[in-house]
Amino acid sequence: MGKVSMTVNGKAVSADVEPRTLLVEYLREHLRLTGTHVGCDTTQCGACTVHVNGQAMKSCTMLAVQAEGADVTTIEGLAKDGKLHPMQASFKEHHGLQCGFCTPGMVMAGIDIRRRHPKADEKTVRHELEGNICRCTGYHNIVKAIMNAEV
Ligand code: FES
Ligand code: FES
Repeated sequence: MGKVSMTVNGKAVSADVEPRTLLVEYLREHLRLTGTHVGCDTTQCGACTVHVNGQAMKSCTMLAVQAEGADVTTIEGLAKDGKLHPMQASFKEHHGLQCGFCTPGMVMAGIDIRRRHPKADEKTVRHELEGNICRCTGYHNIVKAIMNAEV
């Protein structure tokens, strides 16, 4: 066991974890932030995407101890004062989901894409979403939601 401390959704948190604990396990099992999903555990699906120091990361690929001292944001940290983040609002408006399983990861990836490509066109968004898999939607509305979010 080792102590790990970080900021999650603006709150300082710390816990004793085994060195092999993945960041996604820490978020889901220790902090009960279950909006971050596990779809594969092999870095392929992107359902576990969170922001670490402002960058989209697959939290199944990172150990909790690697996030020591980091600023982590999960899907639960996006809405402020009951108001959806513009990317969440855009997913709602463009109907960018069906079952919703991939959605937290898509929203977190979408924010990162628009931060790096403020005027991202369809081709860029599709290319950038390579690491996020959706089984339901055919991606069309997800791409539309990311391109049209007023971030
Ligand atoms: S659960 Fe992390 S990429 Fe699939
Ligand atoms: S909305 Fe069902 S997996 Fe994407």
